[in-house]
Amino acid sequence: MALTFFPLMRIFRSGRTRKSGAFTRLRCSGCIPAPHSFSPLSLNTLSPFLPSQVTMTEDSKTPSPAPIELKGVSKQYRLGFWLAKKVQALKSLDLKVDSGQIFGLLGPNGAGKSTTIKILMNLVQASEGTVRLFGLPPSDPKARRQVGYLPENPMPYDYLTGREFVTLGAQLAGYDPKKTKARVEEVLDEVGMTRSAGMQIRRYSKGMVQRVAFAQALVGEPRLLILDEPTSGLDPVGRRQIRDIILHERAKGTTILFCTHIIPDIEALCDHVAVLVSGRLRKEGSVRDLLTTKAPAVEIGLEGLNRGQLESLTGGSAPEAIHELEGRLLVRVKGEESNTLITKIIAAGGRITQVQQVRFSLEDLFMDVVKDAGYKASPGGEIIG
Ligand SMILES: Nc1ncnc2c1ncn2[C@@H]1O[C@H](COP(=O)(O)OP(=O)(O)O)[C@@H](O)[C@H]1O
Ligand SMILES: [Mg+2]
Repeated sequence: MALTFFPLMRIFRSGRTRKSGAFTRLRCSGCIPAPHSFSPLSLNTLSPFLPSQVTMTEDSKTPSPAPIELKGVSKQYRLGFWLAKKVQALKSLDLKVDSGQIFGLLGPNGAGKSTTIKILMNLVQASEGTVRLFGLPPSDPKARRQVGYLPENPMPYDYLTGREFVTLGAQLAGYDPKKTKARVEEVLDEVGMTRSAGMQIRRYSKGMVQRVAFAQALVGEPRLLILDEPTSGLDPVGRRQIRDIILHERAKGTTILFCTHIIPDIEALCDHVAVLVSGRLRKEGSVRDLLTTKAPAVEIGLEGLNRGQLESLTGGSAPEAIHELEGRLLVRVKGEESNTLITKIIAAGGRITQVQQVRFSLEDLFMDVVKDAGYKASPGGEIIG
């Protein structure tokens, strides 16, 4: 067994380094099991990416089309033996990502984030609507060639080493062969994988696979990066590294769309955010605008009054929340009402123990949006039929 396996690996290893045809030959040879879930990554992720290879026929006078544009995009998946049931994963989604933006797609589990990304990568067909990548349909390889893609659960061929896998990515992207070696080392270093690059991927931890898959997305120097949960499975150091790479790519002018449910990542990185819940776009705007639209709140801590007395002081302008904490009361009011309430508390014999401005976070916004959308504990799209 070992004897038969070894020569096959040799054939693969020597074939793989050739510029063309290696990948097709391997799949046809049947000697390498290609898991079903791997094929999207291999065929769609690795093959078509490199900006320098693209001959865009852009007229310098006309503005270049947006990297991503979706209009009225809906997706229904069919389920069951007779495919009679449908899941509404996306409903009339309009989204535009401008050049140079870091655009965050935020949403709870099952919101339709990965479906949106798979539609952009031509892995899933939209049921309705139009989708454009740089003005071209995603089925056009010229469009996808400009994109670096990190899937949600990357499953690279695990008998390759990290270095071989990233090199294969560069070759399939059509990267200049003379520069490939240096570029591969550069991206491996960027994702912190230089030391383990010679090890087979099957020996990697989840975080290491994620890093090497990210290196594969970067290696072709794409104009657009589409990242599905880029920091998932990473330790805090890895998360910070990935964040730094995203910011570095942005400084180079790369447009980035990434989806996540990790709110601090959105706050730290994004210019623009869209919140998806159950397949529908619920909120969209620049992170700064969204964070300043809600009036700031103030938390007042006090002693010497009971809850009833405090409620009578607030009168018509009911406080947003009153909490009792070991003989103290904590009340949250709108910023403009805080001075009046403090004066009333002191006049009624209460003692102020703390006054604190509550910073409105993206998490508050997210929770509000999710609550307004009627999202409960059951994630996913609407099931029809
Ligand atoms: N291949 C599929 N077949 C059937 N339903 C699917 C498929 N992929 C996703 N879905 C459903 O579509 C909805 C959105 O899923 P997804 O886009 O993966 O959400 P997210 O990435 O936001 O967590 C979910 O209800 C999910 O169950
Ligand atoms: Mg997902």
